Amino acid sequence: MEELQQVKEQIKSFVVECNDKKSLELLDLLATGKMLRSKLILKIAGVNEESIKLCAVVEMIHAASLLHDDVIDESDTRRGKPSINALFDNKTSIMFGDILYSKAFTELSQMDKEVAYTVSNAVTLLSIGEMLDVDLTETFNDFYDKYLDMIYKKTASLIEASAKAAAIIAGLDKDKYALYGKNLGLAFQMIDDILDITQDSTTLGKPAMLDFVEGKVTIPYLLLHERVQDKVKLELLYKKPLSADESSWIKEQMISTNALQDSISQAKKLGQEAILAVENENNESLVQIMSAMIDREF
Ligand code: FPP
Ligand code: MG
Repeated sequence: MEELQQVKEQIKSFVVECNDKKSLELLDLLATGKMLRSKLILKIAGVNEESIKLCAVVEMIHAASLLHDDVIDESDTRRGKPSINALFDNKTSIMFGDILYSKAFTELSQMDKEVAYTVSNAVTLLSIGEMLDVDLTETFNDFYDKYLDMIYKKTASLIEASAKAAAIIAGLDKDKYALYGKNLGLAFQMIDDILDITQDSTTLGKPAMLDFVEGKVTIPYLLLHERVQDKVKLELLYKKPLSADESSWIKEQMISTNALQDSISQAKKLGQEAILAVENENNESLVQIMSAMIDREF
């Protein structure tokens, strides 16, 4: 996609403006992701200078949050490549995250006031979401509402803000696009949580079935916990490295109790709600973005 290349070049120009050789070297080491937020912005606002800059700002904030998240999660892989904290150290990952994050905010401060408010407010939410995520790994969380609130803040808030900000610059109905972005974001995180169980590590670009080991009780585990006969067995496996037999048991139970299937249905339902929010907007690509997001493999 030619326009995503333009976003990457804009990010590079912003980092060049920081006048720091090491930052540029670190930028080259970052693996490119799916750029979902940029795809969304460009489909809503079209390709122009303002929308490309908005994409770059959002991608830089997202990259910064992942640089910090990999330190918090002690993760040594990101998008199939060694993470910056693995290649260098935690300090480098945090500091480079700070540079991307603050440069993005410098650029944001030069944009439309409502766009700047929308995006910066989402960053507060995503930071709170990350803290909730960490807190929820303390003990087995069996509250669906807490999970939903956490994934809204951690993941959906920035996707919601991207869609809303794009609608603002394009002069479209911002509330409809915000609702589309919110539901798309919630579905996106649920699919992520499902792929952790259904995919292998090569496809994922990170270890598979790691969420439960790390203390994350995601939607398939929440449903499984409600339905599984041997609850004690499941609770005993929580936050423990899983043997091949234990992983298989979890997967089998998720299939036989329909926990996995119903999690997929829940993500699809949110995807449908996203589409419903913009059904009169005549933008077929928003349906495509949603379907591709649901059907993805990593
Ligand atoms: C990935 O989640 C993490 C996020 C989407 C948000 C992280 C947010 C912060 C660290 C707040 C700080 C923000 C800034 C801008 C500096 P995950 O761990 O579930 O997913 P993963 O498997 O991809 O790591
Ligand atoms: Mg993480």
